[in-house]
Amino acid sequence: RGLRVLDKGFLNTAVIRSEITYIDGEAGVLRYRGYPIEQLAVNSSYLECAYLLIYGSLPTRTQFRTFENEVMHHSIMHHDSEELYSSFRYDSHPMAILTSAFAALGSNHADANPSLAGQNLYTRGTPESLAVMDKQIFRLLGKATTMAAMAYRVRQGRAFVTPPVGLSYTGSFLYQMDHLGEEGYKPNPVLERALDVLFLVHADHELNASCTTVLQTGSSLVDPYSAIAAGCASLYGPLHGGANEAVIRMLISIGSPDNVPQFLEQVKRKESVLSGFGHRVYRTSDPRSFIVRKTADEVFAITGKDPLLETAMRLHDEAMKDDYFVSRKLAPNVDFWSGLIYRAMGFPLDFFPVLFAVPRVAGWLAHWRQMMLQEGGVKIWRPRQIYVGPEVREFVPIEQRK
Ligand code: CMC
Repeated sequence: RGLRVLDKGFLNTAVIRSEITYIDGEAGVLRYRGYPIEQLAVNSSYLECAYLLIYGSLPTRTQFRTFENEVMHHSIMHHDSEELYSSFRYDSHPMAILTSAFAALGSNHADANPSLAGQNLYTRGTPESLAVMDKQIFRLLGKATTMAAMAYRVRQGRAFVTPPVGLSYTGSFLYQMDHLGEEGYKPNPVLERALDVLFLVHADHELNASCTTVLQTGSSLVDPYSAIAAGCASLYGPLHGGANEAVIRMLISIGSPDNVPQFLEQVKRKESVLSGFGHRVYRTSDPRSFIVRKTADEVFAITGKDPLLETAMRLHDEAMKDDYFVSRKLAPNVDFWSGLIYRAMGFPLDFFPVLFAVPRVAGWLAHWRQMMLQEGGVKIWRPRQIYVGPEVREFVPIEQRK
């Protein structure tokens, strides 16, 4: 309570003890619950990692089957929600739709509302309370893909698609996005797996801006739908989940590989930002970027190469040997290559942040659950400021003001 230390941007402030995700920014290490991201990307799936992040261990086959059934069971939206989606303008940004959809979802579930069901609904840790918590987790994970697909289709004036039975989490999402009504439609398995790997590497990244927002909001003991909506809004920004969209806009504006040196000079004069480069925590490399780069090649083998790839590669190669970027320890982050994959798969540009937000729901929920159940209960997050405004002033009536 005594001395206040200004820590602009939380460069050195820890607010919670966590067992979920470990990052070593100097060594370029990322682990979910102790498992290296490289091992998970090869051997696991997004939904299995969601379980791992939320509950702390890899599921047995039975545990996974139950979890998957619950999540997929909850993927269906109430018919009434179609009206809400249809009320958005055709040119609404899908992140604005998704953020609103998460908040609106809470209105359907009175059992999730701590002001109705008891202030300590989520912090009790009793079997009943854990079951209520699980239900919201299943709903939020299950409906995230459905709501994202609805946000996509409403802008095209296309009818919504009921989540299919028998497809994987990512397969179901692709089905709902693309389904044209033909019998037996199945997404391409290579593209389905590629998207699943992208979902997996985006599932969590400890206390980034959006996760911090979820916890900050959740610390008032509000329902998880409101907390996730707040996180979703935070992720929307171009310095965070909007960076994958910004990378493609940057590559388009550069125009061709020949213009790369000129663009880099602009960045060095601080007239532009090199989107998809740099990270608050990683000071050498972002391990996710290697996984995404490899996945890009697998996708391009099916879809053909994106014409922006050459510009991206030249940009990458030149920046990595330029003293400006090397001395500032700037390297590609997860977003540098992911946008190229999304583009090759046919997702519209402004939908890219949605493809980051949907998988991040698992991480947000894992941290929210951990905080609710932490020893000693939840302490509301209420940082202090250093006041630098005027001293006390006398009120001046409006007619006497100059
Ligand atoms: N392009 C040009 N210069 C940069 C960049 C960049 N992308 N990133 C950092 N710098 C410069 C910055 O201007 C500063 O220069 P100087 O020392 O001359 O003032 C120096 O590098 C150090 O940067 P920093 O202040 O340590 O960076 P930060 O930790 O405050 O910000 C960041 C991290 C991710 C917001 C920033 O690197 C950035 O804006 N990157 C571009 C946006 C982006 O790709 N975001 C996605 C992040 S990964 C996915 C996610 O988790 O959301």
